[in-house]
Amino acid sequence: MAEQKELFSADLLSPEVQSALPEGYKLRALRPSDYDTGFLDCLRVLTTVGDITKEQFQDRYDWISRQDGGYFILVIEDTNSSPPRVVGTGALLVERKFIHNLASVGHIEDIAIAKDQQGKKLGLRMIQALDFIAQKTGCYKAILDCSEANEGFYVKCGFKRAGLEMAHYY
Ligand code: ACO
Repeated sequence: MAEQKELFSADLLSPEVQSALPEGYKLRALRPSDYDTGFLDCLRVLTTVGDITKEQFQDRYDWISRQDGGYFILVIEDTNSSPPRVVGTGALLVERKFIHNLASVGHIEDIAIAKDQQGKKLGLRMIQALDFIAQKTGCYKAILDCSEANEGFYVKCGFKRAGLEMAHYY
């Protein structure tokens, strides 16, 4: 069977992160077939996802793939399980600005590790893999919002508290 097209080039996958993962765990870009590999269930550990049809999934995947280097979604797949299952995910949005001499800023979003896989450093590896993409795409920093309960995790990943989140909900 032909290799399925992934969301972005394998050049943006950190070799260091891949080699630090447990045996049989694979870092890769999201694929259309991840509708059936547990990607959405993985996101359900983070928040509500809703009942997304395969067609809706494909439409959103196609939109993201048209963002021309602006939107990256990574997964960690456990190939030891049969069939292989997505056990972790994370996203990076690259914002290209006018300020600071056309600077780029990475926004880390939607980090989720399957409940039964937490505590194995997969979250840390996911952040390192997103940092690698942010650096490769020329970002001068990466930022994220998180709850107080997750602050310790991000401190372990090398982040420090900066600023204050404000929101309008519509
Ligand atoms: N508070 C303090 N320390 C933590 C926490 C926490 N909530 N979670 C993990 N750590 C520590 C670990 O003990 C470990 O420390 P060590 O190096 O001293 O052993 C280190 O952080 C790395 O932990 P990992 O094993 O990589 O963490 P894990 O794979 O379990 O992933 C995560 C952490 C992503 C928070 C996971 O628990 C999860 O998916 N939670 C539910 C969804 C969620 O809250 N996602 C983050 C939302 S914020 C955002 O998306 C920007």
